[in-house]
Amino acid sequence: MRRTLVVGNWKMHGSRPANAELLAGLLAARPYTADVAVCVPAVFLTETAATLAGSDIRWGAQDVSAHEQGAYTGEISAGMLHECGCRYAIVGHSERRAYHAESDALVAQKAQAALARGVTPIVCVGETLAEREAGQTEVVVKRQLSAVIHQLAHCAAEMVVAYEPVWAIGTGRTASPEQAQAVHAVLRAQLQAATGRADTMKILYGGSVKPDNAATLFAQPDIDGGLIGGAALKAADFIAICRAAP
Ligand code: G3P
Repeated sequence: MRRTLVVGNWKMHGSRPANAELLAGLLAARPYTADVAVCVPAVFLTETAATLAGSDIRWGAQDVSAHEQGAYTGEISAGMLHECGCRYAIVGHSERRAYHAESDALVAQKAQAALARGVTPIVCVGETLAEREAGQTEVVVKRQLSAVIHQLAHCAAEMVVAYEPVWAIGTGRTASPEQAQAVHAVLRAQLQAATGRADTMKILYGGSVKPDNAATLFAQPDIDGGLIGGAALKAADFIAICRAAP
């Protein structure tokens, strides 16, 4: 009922020649049974748009400003992303929360700014290892999601959620399918209570998703796809993950 969505988060990787090769590989491997998208560094959005235009592979950004326009040096607005044809903007990635001190409230404002310009926010939530070990996983992810739900109000069902346990990002240590499913079920219940439409909403898993574990993760009832970091940088790996969709 929910089509699998696989999104590559390139983070701060890429170069014009490397991107061209990677995107050509993704285009050549079509069709996919999953919906596929790449979130690229902002400076590459225009070129990515030109390369992918007319295909069913979508593109997006890795962040967005909470502001519409103005004196915010270095920021990029949702309107600008929309102009670049972005379908998605990742918001609240744990790297932004950790290195740029993004609060739950700011993440929620960014999600709202994106939606207001027709860009779907991919809202990341996830606990640190210390929080998991302290038994705080549920409390943390529910708090992070709750801020966005309240900000988006009647539009909350329009977002995509990504559960990314911080301890699984870039570490090679994946949450087991059971661990991930348990948190996804909690998030879906929270979304259902807030929107009544959670059965239509996508909840992605992110954190060391690789070709050899993607199928088992995606087979979980509440895991609707993945947000892929390292493995999104190699065409063969990303394609294999896209093909792992049920
Ligand atoms: O947003 C994707 C991400 O944080 C996961 O990264 O390298 O563990 O797949 P990675």
